[in-house]
Amino acid sequence: MAQATFHFPREFLWGTATSSHQVEGNNINNNWWAWEHQPGKIVHGQKSGLACDWWSGRWQEDFDRAAAAGQNAHRLSIEWSRVQPAPDRWDEYALDYYREILRGLQERNMTPMITLHHFTDPLWVSERGGWEQEDTIALFESYVSKVVDALKEYVTLWVTINEPNVLATMGYAFGDFPPGKKDLAATVRVVTHLLHAHATAYAAIHKIQPQARVGIALNYRGFQPAKPWFPPDRFVARLQSRIYNDLFPRALMDGVLRFPFIRKRLPQAKATQDFFGLNYYTQDQVAFNLLKAKEFFGRRFYEHQAELSDNGFIANQPKGMFDSIKWGLQFQVPIIITENGIEDADDHLRPKYIAQHIHQVWRAVNYNWPVKGYFHWTLVDNFEWERGWTQRFGLWELDLETLARHKRPSADLYAAICRENGLSSDMVAKYAPDLLEIMFPD
Ligand code: GAL
Repeated sequence: MAQATFHFPREFLWGTATSSHQVEGNNINNNWWAWEHQPGKIVHGQKSGLACDWWSGRWQEDFDRAAAAGQNAHRLSIEWSRVQPAPDRWDEYALDYYREILRGLQERNMTPMITLHHFTDPLWVSERGGWEQEDTIALFESYVSKVVDALKEYVTLWVTINEPNVLATMGYAFGDFPPGKKDLAATVRVVTHLLHAHATAYAAIHKIQPQARVGIALNYRGFQPAKPWFPPDRFVARLQSRIYNDLFPRALMDGVLRFPFIRKRLPQAKATQDFFGLNYYTQDQVAFNLLKAKEFFGRRFYEHQAELSDNGFIANQPKGMFDSIKWGLQFQVPIIITENGIEDADDHLRPKYIAQHIHQVWRAVNYNWPVKGYFHWTLVDNFEWERGWTQRFGLWELDLETLARHKRPSADLYAAICRENGLSSDMVAKYAPDLLEIMFPD
């Protein structure tokens, strides 16, 4: 076995990612809180409740953990419903508190990346029709301007909208997120409005802060033809990737939204990303299937031999990490891995998943591809949307009764990587020995 270290470039960002509703607790004024309180929407009727209790101050101990573990960055989101609890009211206390949180990062020498919209809308926005309404774009713009003006002293790295593709499909096509619709026309409208909202926010942010770096975070899914030699499988895999992966970021490049049968021009969206935020978790196999009309005739499943996460939600497919970065090069801006992680309560698979995915990021860096950072999802177990608390993505485990945090072995592996700015054979020998011969052959 060779002794070696895969090093990353200087100033590479190493952090974890979180979002307001998933960690703050008591976000009672948004559409997700309302959704959680409707029967049958969340697994076992679970609720976000106090979440990780950040709004009462526990962000401090969690930032201490992250900083002590060598992380030099953190991605978090601002909760629109806190900043603007009613259409005609800004909550200056909430903005002050976000400033305090950002000072907390600054004191710990961690670079903040701020997401302005991570799935949740204020109740008053969703009650007037949410993202189906065109004027939500202007509402979002004024919220963004308010926040950026308030936080510009601390932040230059902004994600406008987290996973617009997930928000649109889960909320309006599959119905698993609020508002729970299954309506293709509404989905198309929402995608268009989200794109437009991003473009407007992009301009607004740059007006306030010319040196800002602004992008989105896209959920990329790998789609592999189940039988690569079978043209119909190749066709449906490509089609799914076009719709799910390409639609949004390509429009940010050239201002054209390419739906399967419709094209929409949105010239204001052209060239509105300064970096590309890539959330990569897993990859599907796709087989042509006439019964799957709603999924564009592609049946999706995980490769049979793949290692699966606790609930079978994620298959460990590290090569897809490399493929997604390669695919992301077409947007011709720096790439930041804004999320990557796995649900794994007893941490039997996560160390391996981390080592393998970071190894793939390193391969990309070694082609001189412009990957600038990696944010692991997530720091401490948090509220996983319609899956409630059944999925544990944290480097630290959260005890839901006491809110105590317990470190998982992965936290130590990730800390070693962050401190070394690299992944070494010693780390792999200690935390994921099965990989040693494969990753560091003689
Ligand atoms: C992403 C989402 C995160 C987190 C993660 C793990 O799609 O942006 O909020 O929930 O998945 O499920």
